[in-house]
Amino acid sequence: MPYQLPANFLWGGATADFQFEGGFNEGGRGLLSHDFETDGSLKIPRHHTMTLPNGEIIKPKSSFFLAEKVPENAQPIFLEDEYYPSHKAVDFYHRYKEDIALMAGMGFNVFRFSICWTRIFPTGEEEKPNEEGLAFYDNVISEMLKYGMEPLITICHDELPMALALKYDGWSSRHVINAYLKYCKVLFERFGDRCRYWLTFNEINAVRGFGPTGVRNPDGQDRYQAVHHMFVASAKAVKLGHEMMPGSQFGAMYAMSELYPASSKPEDVFHRLQARRENWYFIDTMGRGYYHPYVKEIWRKHGVKNIKMDSDDQILLKEGQLDFISFSYYRSNVTQAGDPWFNVGGSPNPNLETTPWGWSVDPLGLRHVMNEIYDRIQKPIFIVENGMGAIDEPDQNGNVQDDYRIKYLRDHLRAMADAILIDGVDCLGYTMWGPIDLVSLSTGEMKKRYGFIYVDMDDKGKGSLDRTPKKSYYWMKKVIETKGAYLNDDYPTP
Ligand code: BG6
Repeated sequence: MPYQLPANFLWGGATADFQFEGGFNEGGRGLLSHDFETDGSLKIPRHHTMTLPNGEIIKPKSSFFLAEKVPENAQPIFLEDEYYPSHKAVDFYHRYKEDIALMAGMGFNVFRFSICWTRIFPTGEEEKPNEEGLAFYDNVISEMLKYGMEPLITICHDELPMALALKYDGWSSRHVINAYLKYCKVLFERFGDRCRYWLTFNEINAVRGFGPTGVRNPDGQDRYQAVHHMFVASAKAVKLGHEMMPGSQFGAMYAMSELYPASSKPEDVFHRLQARRENWYFIDTMGRGYYHPYVKEIWRKHGVKNIKMDSDDQILLKEGQLDFISFSYYRSNVTQAGDPWFNVGGSPNPNLETTPWGWSVDPLGLRHVMNEIYDRIQKPIFIVENGMGAIDEPDQNGNVQDDYRIKYLRDHLRAMADAILIDGVDCLGYTMWGPIDLVSLSTGEMKKRYGFIYVDMDDKGKGSLDRTPKKSYYWMKKVIETKGAYLNDDYPTP
């Protein structure tokens, strides 16, 4: 079947504030938990820098997948000999006009970005919002609309005002729900007339650690209690958003790698079902509006004794269901009976090639995941992150010939088109992760690049920060221009 996607299909890119904006102490912005995360690499995990009352420095690991405990009396501290990538990121804060123009040059009709909570409420609890922060996003949105780019706004991308983390132990407290709602209300008031698509949380199924949730003991009981509060917060935001902005569409974003059983042994296949439910837990509850019976088994496995709920929480979940399901897809993994429950994501798929960061490349897995979600929830879906983190070496003229990225994207976009055109999946759009190179979330590196546009900066923030389109930029422009027809075999492929 020829690849030709509907005229209203949304094509674009996706970013997150603390990986992209920089300007961490400008415009009245308050501190985020992420501001205390150092850089790292595949071998050396990123860490927070903190201090104890006796002056001792501690460096808890900050990986958002791993649950590392943070002592109750630890306070964040900046150390002079550490590099903190969020402080400068790649400076979208000062270069948004140039960056948006570059993205418009590829024909994007959507751009997903996240609003930095502490630009709007520096500690999360001020009575009035910070006007300078609102003005920044106002300008960003106006600039996008000038080029016909639809905003897709992530309200909370794995982040929390540091003040809320310290004061309340983050999302383990219901107080944070009120702070989040106050923040949402301001965004809906200011931007609701111009923004239709909203995501309440990013990768809510993956975030565990202190960085994104502010929970110091993110295992079992506290983690699932925090997640319940995030479910309620999301449902309240959806309800409020629908009331304040008729026609608005809400999603939340899930990390959805493909997951295969390691073999056809019944035990492995059943284990896969159970491991997958660790993700369905989030999508089912928010997408269908209620906790399913299997959640009891999940709580038991994670040592959860009791989730405290208010009497109307269950009603709220129902009333604040999502309109669409959005997700990130990068890779596939395998899992087998006996794998520990903290490793629900599985291990790299041995049948596939991997990126330099060990992520298995699996386009068909994307088609499978799209079908799995759509069959299950039967609401439109939206691919809001996909892409290949790779090492790009500019040639002597400063150009990057990233044929490997074109191949990755072509194969994934073909798989996506198959799911839409052959399987009948209702997919609203596709936003490629990091259209302009930005800081890696998992490792804090700059050299793990996703972009169509090269940024001259190294892992320690050195470089001109100049932007240069890569070969993939011109290729993707053609794909968008032809509404996917450029994916057909009759066009040149690298
Ligand atoms: C998703 C996140 O997990 O994957 C992004 O929503 C992140 O914030 C992206 O950057 C890619 O991961 P990484 O670790 O390669 O940056």
